[in-house]
Amino acid sequence: IECITSKFQASNSSQNVIYTPRNNAASYSSIYQSFLGNLRFLSTSPQRPLAIITPTNESEIQATIHCSRKHGTQIKVRSGGHDYEGLSYISQTPFAIVDMRNLRAISIDTQENTAWIQTGATLGEVYYTIAETSRTLAFPAGVCPTVGVGGHFSGGGYGMISRKHGIAVDNIIDAIIINANGQILNRNSMGEDLFWAIRGGGGTSFGIVVAFKVNLVTIPETVTVFNVSRTLEQNATQLVHKWQYISDKIDENLLLRLFISSVRSPAASNGNRTIQASFTSLFLGRVEDLIPIMEQKFPELGLVEQDCIEMSWIESTLFFAGFPNGTSLDVLLNRTQQNSVYFKGKSDYVREPIPEHGLQGIWNYLNEENGSQLQFSPYGGALSTVSESETPFPHRSGNIFMIHYAVVWTTDSPRHINWIRRLYRYMAPFVSKSPRAAYFNYRDLDIGRNNIQGNTSYRQASVWGFKYFKNNFNRLVRVKTKVDPSNFFRNEQSVPPLSSN
Ligand code: FDA
Repeated sequence: IECITSKFQASNSSQNVIYTPRNNAASYSSIYQSFLGNLRFLSTSPQRPLAIITPTNESEIQATIHCSRKHGTQIKVRSGGHDYEGLSYISQTPFAIVDMRNLRAISIDTQENTAWIQTGATLGEVYYTIAETSRTLAFPAGVCPTVGVGGHFSGGGYGMISRKHGIAVDNIIDAIIINANGQILNRNSMGEDLFWAIRGGGGTSFGIVVAFKVNLVTIPETVTVFNVSRTLEQNATQLVHKWQYISDKIDENLLLRLFISSVRSPAASNGNRTIQASFTSLFLGRVEDLIPIMEQKFPELGLVEQDCIEMSWIESTLFFAGFPNGTSLDVLLNRTQQNSVYFKGKSDYVREPIPEHGLQGIWNYLNEENGSQLQFSPYGGALSTVSESETPFPHRSGNIFMIHYAVVWTTDSPRHINWIRRLYRYMAPFVSKSPRAAYFNYRDLDIGRNNIQGNTSYRQASVWGFKYFKNNFNRLVRVKTKVDPSNFFRNEQSVPPLSSN
């Protein structure tokens, strides 16, 4: 801390961006907890950060890297703080947090249809700023407005227009990163290997990403949304089964996402619980063009015009984030995560439709656990036109959909994590194999982890690495070996250099 303080003094930087338990305890605590959306890590984190730095410029990041290296302190980088395993803000060894909240400028070039976005920005801020500039520009990324650009863009970034426009990493065209030597690099100076790695391989293994430059995508002024729910008594099983045959092949302007959970219902035969499948969807076009597509490809759902709402793309971001119709766009600028709960998530990829008896087995699991929910996110379209090795994100052609398993609870108990692990085991016959693939941004330490002290072998990291990245893992290791051979940037699931023992 003395090292950082003196470096900041030398460069006339403000000391107010250094928070420690001693120099300003109240602000330190409140800033630390402000992103703690997942109560699992409040009680279990054995270490509190020695300091939290909220840099306002690149030289403050350079100073923090320099001092951390000099004194052997680990750095964790936090943008939106949504990491599923808390890796941006907890650690087993002494560490400091570089919290990017003050670096969140977004500048849009309407001539080029591009934007420079600093990684401390949230998706809500990105969407809000694009919409302030144009009604026909957008960016394909996730649904929750408080997710941070730093983690999300460097790890994938799937959202409601991804079947048409790909994921966030497919649209990144430049970046600024500060490496372990404190050098500030752009695409040109970092070279294509490192630029490739931070588009899906996670930024945090390679440096601190300060900003991404992205191509914005063109969308119609009016889009159509709907959220139609069906229970088992309304043929949910057959509808979900059929959905698997059309969701990745249907018109790429249409993304039919499925949310499945167990709900109370007086009409249910099984006690009074039933399964509800909600088809939550976005169509890049007008309702009059959507209905004929649905009648032709998915008549069983019985979608009618009255189920649909036409709106602008920016309004649709509020719809999918769960805000009531008419909510002010200003909520997109709120960076606070809602409702702290205990949470565990996992993911899988499905390449062959799950038979009806397999779905019925899933329903039994959901009926056991009140706080559970599955999301089925369709692939195909633009996602499958990119080769597996174009970016580290390898989940391309051949995947019908991704499953997101989630369970939330409010009173600490191991029961819920055991439940999600049992469901995951049950799913093995129905999902991708060799490797059983997983989505990096839905981080899951159950699938493998590095040694706590960071000396992890290639072999040990391969256990989780091939699941997230398939064969791209080997190239990520080569890049890491070149740019950070001493493994300064490391965490429980960072890519190791080959020299690690
Ligand atoms: P956080 O700050 O926790 O960082 C995540 C990881 O990235 C950490 O390892 C961190 O060190 C590293 N990192 C962060 N900033 C960095 C930087 N500037 N340079 C280098 N490394 C950096 N995903 C999706 O694809 N579609 C979706 O719709 C959603 N929706 C969603 C909703 C909710 C409520 C949650 C909690 C999560 C999602 N996600 C998602 C998953 C999300 O994409 C994933 O958790 C991201 O990593 C979150 O990025 P943050 O910057 O918020 O996290």
